[in-house]
Amino acid sequence: MAEPKRNDDSMDATPNVTEVETADAATVAESVAAIEAPAQRGEPILQVRNLVKHFPLTQGILFKKQVGAVKAVDGVSFDLYQGETLGIVGESGCGKSTVAKLLMTLEQATAGEVFFKGQDITRLSGRALKAVRRNIQMVFQDPYTSLNPRMTVGDIIGEPFDIHPEVAPKGDRRRKVQELLDVVGLNPEYINRYPHQFSGGQRQRIGIARGLALNPEIIICDEPVSALDVSVQAQVINLMEKLQDEFNLSYIFIAHDLSIVRHISDRVGVMYLGKIAEIGTDTQIYDHPTHPYTQALLSAVPVPDPDAREGRDRIILSGDVPSPANPPSGCRFRTRCWKAQDKCATEVPLLAIPERFKGTDGHTAHESACHFAEERDVVHAA
Ligand SMILES: Nc1ncnc2c1ncn2[C@@H]1O[C@H](COP(=O)(O)OP(=O)(O)OP(=O)(O)O)[C@@H](O)[C@H]1O
Ligand code: SF4
Ligand SMILES: [Mg+2]
Repeated sequence: MAEPKRNDDSMDATPNVTEVETADAATVAESVAAIEAPAQRGEPILQVRNLVKHFPLTQGILFKKQVGAVKAVDGVSFDLYQGETLGIVGESGCGKSTVAKLLMTLEQATAGEVFFKGQDITRLSGRALKAVRRNIQMVFQDPYTSLNPRMTVGDIIGEPFDIHPEVAPKGDRRRKVQELLDVVGLNPEYINRYPHQFSGGQRQRIGIARGLALNPEIIICDEPVSALDVSVQAQVINLMEKLQDEFNLSYIFIAHDLSIVRHISDRVGVMYLGKIAEIGTDTQIYDHPTHPYTQALLSAVPVPDPDAREGRDRIILSGDVPSPANPPSGCRFRTRCWKAQDKCATEVPLLAIPERFKGTDGHTAHESACHFAEERDVVHAA
């Protein structure tokens, strides 16, 4: 895992990077620097370190006994830089939404740290937590169910001001909400309308306006366009990109659709069964994937051109995703991996730049949690 470069005077706030992740920190940082100078990225605004969320599995009605745990998130680490979009992709159930809820402090982490500007938010409570929460907002997947049908748009967008009246005092709320409606491309005169009077795309604009209300620095978007028609998806994505530039927002963009994620993301993390399998710039992940799981995901992306489709490198994965309550030993992907060897069952592959790629072509040299990581051009094979 690449460690961000910090000034010495910020060292007090340096996260406790775990044993697992310190192994190659110095060399990893060097290799990443070769691809993109830290100066270009600046300081990370969010640093996630070994984040874990285990949901207890219980038995019994009166006397509940814990019989296991769903390991929804199991040691996730990444950085989010100011003004960038980090995409997170992976199959259903791999832990994407749980990561989002942990970052929002809607779920309590079982272990690990989340540093917002150097402050571990997993340990905060009361006023300090409230202050940080203002800076990290969320846009939800379903614009049909995430808006209260009995509230007017004005009340929905202005609701966050009840908790943070300092952002918009009572007398100023209407003006502020109308300003937000305008910012997301809706008519400010719609302020007294109800959600059912809007289309899906317009409702998602309302959700985005609510997310923006408190002037956050980070917006976590959990499948923000998945429920929308394809034609509307592009409009909402364009709006999000415009707002990012305008307000210097940092996004975490969670989605199933690999094409959309590529379009909007600067970097992409691929999750499998509670862990990050591979992370890198969009070019590294899409054009130079080194983890077999990423390669399989990419090979399944629909290709409109029949000639390209014919000759492409299609990887069919065997078997189902194992249960997160009982994940495979060693590499979690090994039960479906065509390259698996004995080592894969006994040693957990670390998320790091493979030793043999260091100092090689910048695109291949990115973090991949595979003992036998190597490039395979699945998308351009035709
Ligand atoms: N509150 C909970 N209690 C128990 N298990 C949970 C809870 N929330 C999530 N899980 C489990 O944790 C795992 C990860 O769920 P999560 O919703 O984070 O996946 P996801 O990647 O967002 O999936 P999807 O793409 O379908 O939205 C799943 O196995 C899910 O059943
Ligand atoms: S570590 Fe082994 S099982 Fe896991 S992805 Fe790499 S080759 Fe496959
Ligand atoms: Mg989800």
